[in-house]
Amino acid sequence: MLSLENIYLTFNPNTANEKVALNGVSLNLEKGDFVTIIGSNGAGKSTMLNAIAGTFIPDSGKITLDGVNITNMPNHKRAKYMGRLFQDPLKGTAPNMTIEENLALSYGRGTRRGFGIGVRKSDEKFYKETLSRLGLGLEDRLKTKVGLLSGGQRQALTLLMATIVTPKLLLLDEHTAALDPVTAKKVMDLTNSIVKENNITTMMVTHNISDALTTGNKTIVMSGGKIVMVLSGEERKGMTLEKLMKLYSDTANDSFTDKMIL
Ligand SMILES: Nc1ncnc2c1ncn2[C@@H]1O[C@H](COP(=O)(O)OP(=O)(O)O)[C@@H](O)[C@H]1O
Ligand SMILES: [Mg+2]
Repeated sequence: MLSLENIYLTFNPNTANEKVALNGVSLNLEKGDFVTIIGSNGAGKSTMLNAIAGTFIPDSGKITLDGVNITNMPNHKRAKYMGRLFQDPLKGTAPNMTIEENLALSYGRGTRRGFGIGVRKSDEKFYKETLSRLGLGLEDRLKTKVGLLSGGQRQALTLLMATIVTPKLLLLDEHTAALDPVTAKKVMDLTNSIVKENNITTMMVTHNISDALTTGNKTIVMSGGKIVMVLSGEERKGMTLEKLMKLYSDTANDSFTDKMIL
């Protein structure tokens, strides 16, 4: 479904601030793969997702999504194939629009209904059913402006919006990191069930190693702009925090931060 071939990406090239953020990244994901990504600050995790989403174009290398070379495809053109969530719950929704208008925007994008924010009666029922799955009572608040919701409610809504039309790829960048632990767990559970039900190819950056090892079917470890480890199958099943820390310090010459271990 997705392949990255030898991706290099440098910020501020040929200046004093030059930074090689991706230093030859290669990766292959099958349809339905759910990959978790860990690595210390500045390892290149967000940049890798940004290169896939087209926010930044690589200096060299090739990115293929479902057989299409998207390496240089403008951001807005590939957006319809991808769902994206960031750490900041305010990023994914329009605060001055109602819950149903927000949902209509993402639903319309996939169904060629155009970008209108008009809500059809037949869609309203669908939105209510979809929202009720969250267990947050939002199905009774379709006309509520999204700006009035809590961070967790907005993030859950963003997740629904990102997947209401099944994307080819779901990119999650520490999407639960800004939420309180209880809400974070809710959003994580919801993520797992939506991804599973729709067999969505998913990449999730997390700072939590336990989450990384227990979520999805593969774990990638990044350091210094490279993928330094890929864990899957039995090796991943048998991996403990202690073993991984040891492997990481040996392989990457780097160590995990407290934030990642807690
Ligand atoms: N827009 C940018 N301009 C300049 N440097 C950047 C930019 N985005 C990221 N970087 C740098 O690239 C490196 C990788 O960053 P990032 O991918 O955000 O790391 P991570 O998400 O793993 O913490 C870091 O050194 C960071 O400072
Ligand atoms: Mg990041």
